[in-house]
Amino acid sequence: MAISHRKPYNFSAGPAILPPIVFERAADAVQELRQSAHDPTAPGCGLSILEMSHRGADFDAVFKRAQALCHEVLEIPATHEVLFLQGGASLQFAMVPQNLGIAGKPAAYVDTGAWSKKAIAEAKVAGEVRVIASSAETRYDRIPELPPPASYADASYVHITSNNTIYGTEFAALPEVGEVPLVVDFSSNIGSRPVSFDRIGVAYAGAQKNLGPSGLTLVAIHRDLVERRVSDQVPLISRYATHVKASSLYNTPNTFGVLVLMLVLEWMRDHGGLEGMFQRNERKAAPLYQFLDESQLFRPHAQPGSRSQMNVVWTLDGAPEAERDAQTKAFLSAANQAGFSGLKGHRSVGGCRASIYNAFPPEGVEALVEFMRNYERQQ
Ligand SMILES: Cc1ncc(COP(=O)(O)O)c(C=O)c1O
Repeated sequence: MAISHRKPYNFSAGPAILPPIVFERAADAVQELRQSAHDPTAPGCGLSILEMSHRGADFDAVFKRAQALCHEVLEIPATHEVLFLQGGASLQFAMVPQNLGIAGKPAAYVDTGAWSKKAIAEAKVAGEVRVIASSAETRYDRIPELPPPASYADASYVHITSNNTIYGTEFAALPEVGEVPLVVDFSSNIGSRPVSFDRIGVAYAGAQKNLGPSGLTLVAIHRDLVERRVSDQVPLISRYATHVKASSLYNTPNTFGVLVLMLVLEWMRDHGGLEGMFQRNERKAAPLYQFLDESQLFRPHAQPGSRSQMNVVWTLDGAPEAERDAQTKAFLSAANQAGFSGLKGHRSVGGCRASIYNAFPPEGVEALVEFMRNYERQQ
């Protein structure tokens, strides 16, 4: 079934846009899974991906291929186990402290906004938390500078949110944290740029931005951390060791989600892998930020040096304060009518947000900039 170019342009923050070829092949596999889901001419196995056992040979082939592609395309080294779990990134907020927290050693967190705060709240349930840096004072418009690693060398781990979906800020590079394991919430920029996993103890990401549908969480954990001491109070299902031992089949996985993730990774591989994605994303984000920097009406929220390539956030701060809310509403309504969907900003920042994940087409950003330029001229 061919799916033609779909209007409107989808700027949703997540669940988010996926490549058109993925929709085609996933739709195909819903009808009947082929021996090779990425090859529409391969023989079918007689069943839909939605109705087959997660322990059968047909799904096993999909699962193994998806895992292998995580290593190959996302460049996750063999030192790290790849798990496909459920419960979203939010469950990882709880599993990380339950599995990596060590009694008497605080967990160090970098506070870069709403998602870090949720992660911190869960970590506080499990033990002591030390916030080592925060950009709360500037309304999370930047990535704060981290203190020297020696100042938190006693921590059980350091947690960062690599991309802040709501505020549109992103770590330009992973921080150097010394010997303490680095834990990264990669939910909204995984696969968007080259990353060295050598520095990472645990990385996790809800799939629903760059990797596939909601209901699937990718976890990459260094083998040395799988068996880190866990209190007897932690339920078996919340232990990384349980899922590693069961190869992510401790409970029934999101089988359809794993298939879609596999298809997305194949698309990424065919488009230059992480370096290809980085260049594609740079080409999209740079002109949008340039326009925002030059605009008299629209103002980018994130400071240069901290700007996200995935979520571009702006307000209409050029409008008189008394009119700002009404003008924002009017702009969003005009944009929606012109075929730009999902631009409404998160309620904690207000304004607008263009989520331009890997699959978002460059021409959609060009069209948006042109629309905004014309809109401003008419005001
Ligand atoms: C950076 C980040 N972390 C965590 C989450 C929460 O993910 P989930 O809803 O899958 O638990 C989100 C959701 O948008 C996110 O953007």
